[in-house]
Amino acid sequence: MAAQLIDGKQIAKNKQEEIAKEVQELKSRNIIPGLAVILVGNNPASRTYVKSKEKACLQLGMHSVLIEFPATICEDELLAKIVELNEDHSIHGILVQLPLPNHINEKKVIETIIPEKDVDGFHPINIGRMMTGQDSFLPCTPYGVMVMLEEMNISISGKHVVVVGRSNIVGKPSGQLFLNENATVTYCHSKTTDLKAITKQADILIAAVGKVDLITADHIKEGAVVIDVGMNRNKEGKLCGDVSFDEVKEKAGYITPVPGGVGPMTITMLMYNTLKSAKNVKPTIQNSI
Ligand code: GUN
Repeated sequence: MAAQLIDGKQIAKNKQEEIAKEVQELKSRNIIPGLAVILVGNNPASRTYVKSKEKACLQLGMHSVLIEFPATICEDELLAKIVELNEDHSIHGILVQLPLPNHINEKKVIETIIPEKDVDGFHPINIGRMMTGQDSFLPCTPYGVMVMLEEMNISISGKHVVVVGRSNIVGKPSGQLFLNENATVTYCHSKTTDLKAITKQADILIAAVGKVDLITADHIKEGAVVIDVGMNRNKEGKLCGDVSFDEVKEKAGYITPVPGGVGPMTITMLMYNTLKSAKNVKPTIQNSI
């Protein structure tokens, strides 16, 4: 039996409609949620992501600022811009698109963004809050995965979740969010000795490595939920994930496509986090008149 498709595009559209309504409500209180995105250099993939974020902001009625710097910018100048945005009341979320050029210290950049505007959820304070189950900004891709499963009424408590990949952006926080929902979590990575033996045990499998055809039908249990976070180009230049979609869909219970799966959810949760940040703004004379 073929798997049920998890339509990230449709779920994202529904969530964005809810967000747009809340943006309008905030606007009636003279608060316009604002997102500043900083792009350093000319990486074409980063440029595409950043443009989609800007477009989503405008579609939902939010304020969007795109700040572009050449790859040669010095670290101090970038940090000074972040400090300026930290103090800018029209900006509720700050995102510095990663990766950054080698001469810039990524950790320092992330830690310069105040946690209250860290809508990526990358600041160690937000990560610590997430790990201890406190209110925080959740990283957008893992958060999008959780929302997808919730919308599909797929229960998590007690399930064995296997996360393949251990990046700070996706793999590690995904496992933590599933743990927070009472799943039993196993992480696999490049040093895992027998990947198949472990992924076959997964009730829910998260593929977040960035390798075409990493997960085949042999890697999964019949009826498993397969979430593909990969974003790759195959030999023909076509966008694809980490999962061999055509064969895995015949064995899985649920599966996300690429494109149209996790991708649209990531942007949606970024918008959600920006809205959440704007809602935290305390009324002042300036923004209550
Ligand atoms: N590069 C790839 N994904 C992301 C993301 O979610 N946020 C940022 N800031 N950079 C990225």
